[in-house]
Formats: sequence, structure tokens, C-alpha cells
Amino acid sequence: MSISKDYNKWANIYDENNNKTRDLDALATKRMLSNYSFKKVLELGCGTGKNTLWLLEHADEIIGLDFSEEMLKKATEKIKNKSVSFLLTDLNDPWPISSNYFDLVTCSLTLEHIASIAEFFKKAYNALQKGGQFFISELHPIKQYLGSKAQFESNVGRIDLEVYPHHLSDYLDTAKHIGFTLVALQEFFDNENREVPRLITFLFKK
Ligand SMILES: C[S@@+](CC[C@H](N)C(=O)[O-])C[C@H]1O[C@@H](n2cnc3c(N)ncnc32)[C@H](O)[C@@H]1O
Repeated sequence: MSISKDYNKWANIYDENNNKTRDLDALATKRMLSNYSFKKVLELGCGTGKNTLWLLEHADEIIGLDFSEEMLKKATEKIKNKSVSFLLTDLNDPWPISSNYFDLVTCSLTLEHIASIAEFFKKAYNALQKGGQFFISELHPIKQYLGSKAQFESNVGRIDLEVYPHHLSDYLDTAKHIGFTLVALQEFFDNENREVPRLITFLFKK
């Protein structure tokens, strides 16, 4: 089963079902980006537009890319605003956007579905203006090692999506090699016990 088909099935309940990772990502995104100003945003794997709504409070223009028709349909129903465009795109293909244009590229909970992040990071770098920022929020590698992955309960049982673990050094070395500078790295936990971090976030600068 392909990843986009699984997300097409998940789309109907994605915003509502019990999902600690989704909810923590919403919080982490706000916490990490609130202190920065941005106007032109590229959102990679925008899904149902959960973060697009918040980004729109700050940005003049947002382009959201995603390859699931049903996730994008939900986003389009939710957000009717001339400043936002959603484009059906497989992020493993060339992206239908201008180069050196955006001041923020964001990517939440999507890289676990991307086999090779090097090409992806190159395209994010190319999309950004000089000084622009690349924000990533992802299931923590430790969580991945312990077996966590994108999954949901459907009417025919649990569906486990195809995922690719990325190590901490994969993120940092790839970003450095491409020319990004690390601005911030932060881990997010389920509660104050801070046992195993659920999310890792990176803010890189071009
Ligand atoms: C877990 S959802 C996250 C959605 C949103 N960013 C959020 O935080 O709620 C992952 C999204 O990535 C999209 N995605 C995964 N692989 C993709 C690819 N190769 N090209 C485009 N979109 C992809 C899926 O369709 C899905 O909407």
C-alpha cells in the first residue's frame, strides 16, 4: 500500500483521532517559530492544514505541498484564503515553486516518509532566500528506534505506514553539507517526567 493511499484513508479522521504526536507538533511549531517573523512560507507535507492555520496568522503568503488528495481536500475545506495555495506534489519529485523566494520552509511529521533526506534538504535550501529558515519537527529518532511510527486505526484494523528512520547525525550532517547553519535544536516530551522525547525539532538557516 502506498503512503499517499494510506493518508487518503487517514484524512477523514486525521484531525480528530487520538494522536499525541500531532498535538505535540502543533505546540512545538508555535513554540519554535513564535519568536521569528516570516512572510512567505513553504509548508512541506502540509496535510489537513493543521499548522497552516497558525502560520497564516503571521505570513502574507503560504504554499502547502502534499501528495495526498484527501489530506489536501480537508485543508482546502478548512482554509479559504487567497494567501494560501495547496498544490498536489510528491516531495520526492521536483517542487513546483520559485527558487530563492521563501523566508520560511516548514516540514512537520513528514520526513519519516522520505527515504533519502539529502535531495529533500537541497530543494528546501534552494527554495529559501539567503537568511531564510528551515524548520523541521519530526518523530524523535529514539521513538523510532523503540518502534513508534505513523499509524492509525481504520475500520479494518490498524494501518502502519511505510517509514524510514533518520538518525540525529543524518539530519545534522546533511544540513551542514548543504550549507545550512543550525540555529536551534529542541526536544519535546509528553510530560514533565522527560523520559523519552517524542519530537525533535531543528531550525536551520540558509
Ligand atoms: C503525519 S502527516 C503531517 C501533516 C501536517 N504536517 C501535520 O503536522 O499535521 C504527514 C503528511 O506528509 C505527507 N507526505 C508524506 N510523504 C510525502 C511525499 N513524498 N510527498 C508529499 N507529501 C507527503 C502525507 O500525505 C501527510 O499529509
